[in-house]
Amino acid sequence: MIGVRHASWVAAGLVLGAGACYGIYLLTRGRRRGGRGLGPRRSGSAEDLTSGSHDDVLNASQLQKLLYLLESTEDPVITERALVTLGNSAAFSANQAIIRELGGIPVVGNKLNNPNQSIKEKALNALNNLSVNVENQVKIKMYIHQVCEDVLSGPLNSAVQLAGLRLLTNMTVTNDHQHMLSSYITDLFHVLLAGNGHTKVDSSFLALYDGHVAKEILLRVLTLFQNINNCLKTGGRLAVRPPSPQGSLSLLLYGEECAQKMRALASHQDADVQEKAVTIIPEF
Ligand SMILES: *[C@@H]1O[C@H](CO)[C@@H](O)[C@H](O)[C@H]1NC(C)=O
Ligand SMILES: *[C@@H]1O[C@H](CO)[C@@H](O)[C@H](O)[C@H]1NC(C)=O
Ligand SMILES: *[C@@H]1O[C@H](CO)[C@@H](O)[C@H](O)[C@H]1NC(C)=O
Ligand SMILES: *[C@@H]1O[C@H](CO)[C@@H](O)[C@H](O)[C@H]1NC(C)=O
Repeated sequence: MIGVRHASWVAAGLVLGAGACYGIYLLTRGRRRGGRGLGPRRSGSAEDLTSGSHDDVLNASQLQKLLYLLESTEDPVITERALVTLGNSAAFSANQAIIRELGGIPVVGNKLNNPNQSIKEKALNALNNLSVNVENQVKIKMYIHQVCEDVLSGPLNSAVQLAGLRLLTNMTVTNDHQHMLSSYITDLFHVLLAGNGHTKVDSSFLALYDGHVAKEILLRVLTLFQNINNCLKTGGRLAVRPPSPQGSLSLLLYGEECAQKMRALASHQDADVQEKAVTIIPEF
């Protein structure tokens, strides 16, 4: 039982990962560049740090200034810029630890409460970069429920939804926090199934169902498929599937190419793989 649950969580992490990756470029586009004057600004104010003119990696005292600014400003434009600057700084692993040690994670996390969607998105992006550090994840996990709510309540394919899915993906890379998603997983699958290509997987995902893929991976992706079927099932039958936009996960999973792969796996050399594939075939 534990083993099965474990495998299905790994699979869930995998699909969230696959789905979320494709939204990344959307999120990193359109970053605001500071529109301020180009005069000399030696060591400058905290606001200057957010102007996008700093190519150098920020040091601890600059990061501290930035956090003070973020805590104290009411201005949405400055808030957004400070979050983007912090997120960029957090791409460096040394800064991930420094920001945590400075108490920066709750400062960023509090911005998830901001009603402005653009600010919420930037806070999610910054948390995502911070979450690469395992100790940071321990602090970020207190926001998981809120992020799930935002992902589920946000407009489909919105920037906030994609940023939230990306953060959830990063937080489920280790097994430590996956259980926190348990009550949301069915709804999250529905988001992945209904969203467009940006929320979704690339067709290369199907390559995971090729016969030569390692048995352990095959078993996981087959379990994932069974889980998705179970999520969509009501009363033992597959519920009417949501309309499938081009490039969507459901079109991919229930299309002819995938059906062929499943039929091939039904005569795979490994009995466990065979057995799982056989249970999935009737769903096509
Ligand atoms: C951090 O960088 C700023 C700007 O380069 C510099 O003025 C300051 O002395 C540095 N602080 C530390 C502690 O290195
Ligand atoms: C939300 O924040 C953005 C970015 O700073 C700002 O341009 C926009 O005016 C804000 N929207 C509202 C409704 O305050
Ligand atoms: C996050 O880190 C990536 C590199 O890991 C970087 O490209 C990106 O600009 C950073 N910032 C944000 C806000 O995502
Ligand atoms: C986690 O997020 C970072 C920054 O956005 C990204 O570079 C990294 O690939 C993500 N890791 C995983 C496993 O998704």
